[in-house]
Amino acid sequence: MKKLLISVVMIMALSAIGYSQKSLYDRLGGEAAVKAVVGDFAGRVLADVRVNKKFAKSDAPRLVKNLTDFVCVATGGPCKYTGQDMKKAHKNMAVTTGEFNALAEDLVATLNKFNVPQKERDEVMGAIAPLAKDIVEKKNNSTGTALPKSFKPAPPLK
Ligand code: HEM
Repeated sequence: MKKLLISVVMIMALSAIGYSQKSLYDRLGGEAAVKAVVGDFAGRVLADVRVNKKFAKSDAPRLVKNLTDFVCVATGGPCKYTGQDMKKAHKNMAVTTGEFNALAEDLVATLNKFNVPQKERDEVMGAIAPLAKDIVEKKNNSTGTALPKSFKPAPPLK
C-alpha cells in the first residue's frame, strides 16, 4: 500500500513537472520574439558572403514569412507552415556542409544577441542540425559557392 502511494505521488510530481514545462516557443518569448529573431537572422544571412549568393533569386517577403512560420511550428508555437518541405525548398541550390554551418553560426549570433539562454539555444540548434540531411547537397567545407543556374526559386507570395 505504502509503495503504491509513493508511486502515485511520484507520477503526479513528474507529470506536474512535465505540464509546467512551457513550449520552446513560449520560453523564447512568443510571437514578437520569434519575429524579431527571424528578422535579425535574415539580415545577418543576407550580409554574410559565405551564404548570400544562394538568395539572389529568392523572394525576400516569402522567405521571412515562411521562415517565421517554420520556426514557430518547430518550437511548438500556434502557427501553420505553408511553405515547401526542406528538401524541395533547397533543391538544386548546391548548399555545402560549410554553408550550412555558416548559417547555423549566424543563428547562434542572433540567439546570443537576444540573450536566449544556453538551454533554449541548444534546443533551437538541436532542432536545426537534423535538417542538414535534406538541405546539404555538397558534402564539403567550401563557403560562398555560386547558386547553380538550375535552381528555380519558389513563386512570391500573393
Ligand atoms: C539551417 C537550416 C535551414 C532552415 C530551417 C531553412 C528553412 C527554410 C525555409 C522555411 C524556407 C522557405 C521555403 C518556402 O518558402 O517554401 C527556406 C528557403 C530558402 N533557404 Fe533555407 N533553411 C535552412 C538552411 C539554408 C541554407 C544553409 C541555405 C543556403 C546557404 C538556405 C537558403 C535558402 C534559400 C535561398 C531559400 C529560398 C528558396 C526559394 O526561393 O525557393 N537555407 N529555408
